[in-house]
Amino acid sequence: MEFYEALRTRRSVRKYKSTPIEPAALDRILEAARTAPSAANRQPWQFIVVFDEGVRQNLVKTYPRDWLASAPVIIVACAEPAAAWVRRDGKNYADVDVAIAFEHLVLAAAAEGLGTCWIGAFDPAGVGKVMGLPEGIEPIAMTPLGYPDDVPRPTSRKPRAEVVRRDRW
Ligand SMILES: Cc1cc2nc3c(=O)[nH]c(=O)nc-3n(C[C@H](O)[C@H](O)[C@H](O)COP(=O)(O)O)c2cc1C
Repeated sequence: MEFYEALRTRRSVRKYKSTPIEPAALDRILEAARTAPSAANRQPWQFIVVFDEGVRQNLVKTYPRDWLASAPVIIVACAEPAAAWVRRDGKNYADVDVAIAFEHLVLAAAAEGLGTCWIGAFDPAGVGKVMGLPEGIEPIAMTPLGYPDDVPRPTSRKPRAEVVRRDRW
């Protein structure tokens, strides 16, 4: 799919087919995340690809939605703040870096005809327990990944004049 078409047509998908994901497509999607830019190239991220039905069911308990269980794969993106670049004023870039890589993954999935839905509203302690995350590794986002079983309607955006300024605030 052409880049701008993927940008334009990507939607948060909340209904999935159980069809397994083509391995080569999954590989390209994970490469898109792995090769994302990060502050000082620290790459303070880990992506956990969950195929196992039991683990997926346990993840659903941290964000109880039927559609999360319906996709064949869930990807959990984690940050390692201790490995991230820190600005002089103390701002840690781990979350920013993980978000950029995760959006690479989301857009690559769209280009492959696969659906995602960025999920941030999970119970982080629950995800940590289910995934066996070691100390210092934080779950930042997760998404179901699978072939869409629905064509979500376009969502609205603020008009450009409201969000783009010229030269100064
Ligand atoms: C950081 C972030 C967190 C989100 N968390 C959730 C979530 O917990 N549950 C959910 O259903 N959607 C979540 N979304 C999806 C948004 O609701 C969705 O992107 C937005 O409504 C625009 O719709 P669209 O993605 O179809 O264009 C999240 C999106 C982002 C970027």
